Amino acid sequence: MNKVNEQDDTGTRENYTHQTSAIMPQHLAKRTAERQAAFLLPHLQPGMRLLDCGCGPGSITIGLAEAVAPGEVIGIDINVIQLAQAKEDAANRGIKNVRFETASIYELPFPDASFDAAFSNAVLSHLRDPTAALTEIRRVLKPGGVAGIRNPDSDGQVIAPAIPLVLRSRDIYSKVIAANGGNTRIGKDHKSLLRQVGFADIEVSAHYEVYGSDEAVRYWGNINANGLLNESAVELLTRLGLATADEIPEISRAWREWADNPDAFYADAWCTAVGWNQ
Ligand SMILES: C[S@@+](CC[C@H](N)C(=O)[O-])C[C@H]1O[C@@H](n2cnc3c(N)ncnc32)[C@H](O)[C@@H]1O
Repeated sequence: MNKVNEQDDTGTRENYTHQTSAIMPQHLAKRTAERQAAFLLPHLQPGMRLLDCGCGPGSITIGLAEAVAPGEVIGIDINVIQLAQAKEDAANRGIKNVRFETASIYELPFPDASFDAAFSNAVLSHLRDPTAALTEIRRVLKPGGVAGIRNPDSDGQVIAPAIPLVLRSRDIYSKVIAANGGNTRIGKDHKSLLRQVGFADIEVSAHYEVYGSDEAVRYWGNINANGLLNESAVELLTRLGLATADEIPEISRAWREWADNPDAFYADAWCTAVGWNQ
């Protein structure tokens, strides 16, 4: 059953919050396998067949394809615009062992036991039913296959200086994600989620993504000022009463003020887990 855009019994739909954001795909495309999949790379070998679930613009997927070449890598996502960008980047870089398909993580269009490895970065945090997604990932993994998942946990965020509207906007963001079916605090639950669906020998860890240099602070301030509360989120948060329409430009101004502060520092906690299908 496809849970995307489906109404649940609490009246909440699952929607990818950044579906219409112009800035988010550019941000995602800066990600690499070396950085965002570092925790999984030691478990990969040339020749493995790997599935990247919710691959977005595919920058990590392409790096994973290099890691397992000549093994085949498939990236799936529901967002056709990002998939088109992924296909173009792979072609431009001459990476032949990767392909991209439109599919939902809840209904992977692959037979049971058909992959050696699976990866998913920053996707479970947007899902209403991460357990169903992980069950589906386990279904397509061969016995002994490895899954690597990575998601943020907003309980680990640190930010200075403590500008009230900046802090409030992070809280609003978590509530928008929740209203869209997701959970910005999912990182701490990786072990429990993988164990529940039958993965074994689970290894968990966490690290920070840091915006501390002048350049990084400017970059992150700009993303937050312009992008994270994108138009569909604005509609949602005014409808849900999380913020007034007047507050949204004030939030953008607060992020610019933050980015102009020489003491600005931001760090996001990211949790990782690997588990084996046994
Ligand atoms: C924050 S992005 C992460 C993209 C990529 N993994 C990365 O780290 O660059 C989340 C992605 O999950 C995708 N997504 C959301 N719901 C999905 C679903 N049910 N099935 C497949 N992909 C989904 C979105 O379209 C989006 O590309």
